[in-house]
Amino acid sequence: MDHYQLPPFRIKMVEPIRQISKEERIQKLKEAGYNPFQLRSEDVFIDLLTDSGTGAMSHFQWAALMKGDEAYAGSASFYRLEEVVKRITGYRYMMPAHQGRGAEQVVIPLLVQHPGMVFLSNIHFDTTRAHVELAGARAIDCVVDECFDLDTYHPFKGNFDLQKLEHEILTHKKENVAGIIMTITNNSAGGQPVSMQNMRDVAQLATRYGIKLLIDGARYAENAYFVKIREEGYSNKSVREIAREAFDLADIFLMSSKKDGLVNIGGLIAIKNDLELFRQCQTRIVPMEGFPTYGGLAGRDMDALAVGLEEALDEGYLSYRLDEIKYLGDLLRQAGVPIQYPTGGHAVFVECGRMCPQIPFDQFPAQAVCNELYIEGGIRAVEIGSLLLGRDPDSGKNLKSDAEFMRLTIPRRTYTFEHLRYVAECVIRVYQRRNDIRGLKFTYESPILRHFTASFAPVEDGQ
Ligand code: F0G
Repeated sequence: MDHYQLPPFRIKMVEPIRQISKEERIQKLKEAGYNPFQLRSEDVFIDLLTDSGTGAMSHFQWAALMKGDEAYAGSASFYRLEEVVKRITGYRYMMPAHQGRGAEQVVIPLLVQHPGMVFLSNIHFDTTRAHVELAGARAIDCVVDECFDLDTYHPFKGNFDLQKLEHEILTHKKENVAGIIMTITNNSAGGQPVSMQNMRDVAQLATRYGIKLLIDGARYAENAYFVKIREEGYSNKSVREIAREAFDLADIFLMSSKKDGLVNIGGLIAIKNDLELFRQCQTRIVPMEGFPTYGGLAGRDMDALAVGLEEALDEGYLSYRLDEIKYLGDLLRQAGVPIQYPTGGHAVFVECGRMCPQIPFDQFPAQAVCNELYIEGGIRAVEIGSLLLGRDPDSGKNLKSDAEFMRLTIPRRTYTFEHLRYVAECVIRVYQRRNDIRGLKFTYESPILRHFTASFAPVEDGQ
């Protein structure tokens, strides 16, 4: 058996969880309209819906909460956070936001100067795409093809396809490209990392064509650790140095701090040196998030974040973090379960289209498997497939996703290896009865963001 890095922490406080009976789970799922988003968390035994805001804070962070300065303007907590963010990024300007999408709603519309503009990314995260579209621009993804070749090892499946990127710049003309967004790690297809070489090449294109370069860095520390262990020339560099090298390439850093900030709520905007843009953000953030020295956060949240940002760069922690994901992925792969391989930084992505070919994409195979997993073991996972993708706005038809993923997202410092072994056992049991799993049909579908609120019924024979 492989050796996995052990957690570099011990447990000081516990939060009880309970497992309700299988009969109760069947009933609860029915009441939830066969949509795990509608379950109450108290009916969930192991919650792998997201790694966002669900991690455990350290005792240093809990202690830091007490130092929170709740002044409306000029809070001491803000200045402590600012110092840490500037030290890590090397950027001159920063302001907090209540979470990642708060940062997006402030910055993205400021970059859209006229109608018909586009943003280019490896893959836009959903809220990023939504803010691009709300601002009247289009979001185009330029990830490498290897990203969807699930079985083949590639160290950096989050990379940009540079030819495609340049092709899009030339097609749309550089003056219509509002920005290039590097999502590190690339959440939507497996938390897959982007190499430093690829980021450098993207930055070169951005400079050549005079386009602003953004980092969507919710999981930038996990990305930096992948660079350290997988990219030539980086094994002797610290994660902090590697992260800094990435920041040096870009102009703007947006962060959902609920991931690599190791806090339950928070976001960041940091700008390298564009004072004019910073001033525009300062103006815009007031009606959106709050005064620029709190941006929707309590003083105590900013103090917890200042500590969490430093802790997330600890290499002992990062090596354990990536290993716990790998551990779960290895157990599933050994049992033949199709997953995105190699595993990424925050989740194991199970390909349910391949697992249940009997279920058509518009009966949502991954959602059906998520439901079975809840019934099997009280585990809540999330669908990242055609249900999430939605309908074509013009034709009204269901869009077919490149992959039908069930994402098993691992909160940080929260579950033990025993929990993950149990998760693997349950997924494998569901896998073994995959041929009996049926698809789902809508009983309610909202016009936007349908995956959160939809209700379903299982498809019966002959339907
Ligand atoms: N960017 C990335 C890459 C994300 O993964 C997320 C959130 C956001 C931006 C938005 O941040 O939630 O703080 O507003 N991802 C969560 C997830 C929701 O479950 O993957 P937010």
